[in-house]
Amino acid sequence: MKMAAHTGLVFVIALSAIASCQAVDSVRLMILGDWGGLPTPPYRTAIEVGVAKQMSAVAKKYGPQAILALGDNFYFDGVKNSDDQRFEETFEKVFAAQPGLDSIPWNLVAGNHDHNGNVSGQIEYTKRSKIWRFPNYYYSLTYNIPGGGVVQILMIDTVLLCGNTGADYLHDQPHGPQDLGAADDQLAWITQNMKSSSADYLFVAGHFPVYSIAEHGPTQCLIDKLLPLLQQYKAVYLSGHDHNLQHLQVTKPGLNMNFFVIGAANFADLSNQHAKDVPSGSSKFFWAKEMDLGGFAYMEIMKQNATFTFIDGVGKNLYQKMLFPRMSSSYN
Ligand SMILES: *[C@@H]1O[C@H](CO)[C@@H](O)[C@H](O)[C@H]1NC(C)=O
Ligand SMILES: *[C@@H]1O[C@H](CO)[C@@H](O)[C@H](O)[C@H]1NC(C)=O
Repeated sequence: MKMAAHTGLVFVIALSAIASCQAVDSVRLMILGDWGGLPTPPYRTAIEVGVAKQMSAVAKKYGPQAILALGDNFYFDGVKNSDDQRFEETFEKVFAAQPGLDSIPWNLVAGNHDHNGNVSGQIEYTKRSKIWRFPNYYYSLTYNIPGGGVVQILMIDTVLLCGNTGADYLHDQPHGPQDLGAADDQLAWITQNMKSSSADYLFVAGHFPVYSIAEHGPTQCLIDKLLPLLQQYKAVYLSGHDHNLQHLQVTKPGLNMNFFVIGAANFADLSNQHAKDVPSGSSKFFWAKEMDLGGFAYMEIMKQNATFTFIDGVGKNLYQKMLFPRMSSSYN
């Protein structure tokens, strides 16, 4: 009798696990870039607030495990130190204050605007915030997919790798690394980590894009240094820098490379002035709306496939792309 009751309980638990298998068996991430408010009151833009509200809605619905923030965390000149008021005004009050966003960790990298200020101050702030995680200029994240498989994300500093840009209105390419040794060290670290990765899904995430059709266009330094690695090790590249949402895909026999630009969490830039500077036919999606509330991305990664979704600041799903594990026969 005692035995039967015990068996019954186990059965009930097993059934409920199957019923919610879609949500439980995945790694779920939200991704945003170029979200860093303004240096003057109210220290945030309507777009930033719109994105925060919709991220809160996604958090409540899907319970993502983590957020990736791809740089330009504080416009226009980063922070002065880890005591800077901007952490409170542009980050905690806008995002951490939203229901559902108060306990999801943010994993950050620095953008060109952050490098105008004190990136060490942003790294240091990790010790003060419940959810701000910026352990170093570059680092690796690993998530086990509950349904099987591993997701690895290399968070990189493209400014240390390629140099900073000039003033915004110049729209220029990074000027070359300030510290050549540090740039070489990082590239060696990226190469080693990609080479030794056995992850089912491999992502590299940084601030500058490899390819973009927008205001800043492709980053030549990343085409030279990073593109061959992304190709060789079948990694998907995530970036910000241009203030819109883009998917670019380069396919040839035996080659399938995906690039996402996710830089629409504070400003909107409609320019597509570099449309002719990306591989022909590679631009699959481009979105920016001046009078709208920006956007971000939500990704659900399962054992067999992953879905990448662009969501706008009013909660509309704009675009979806399915991705496959590196070794899957569906990859190409
Ligand atoms: C940068 O921030 C760190 C941490 O708050 C601080 O110790 C350091 O003095 C700051 N550097 C400058 C140049 O202000
Ligand atoms: C994606 O994976 C789900 C299960 O995780 C499966 O039901 C679906 O058929 C897959 N889709 C494709 C196109 O492989």
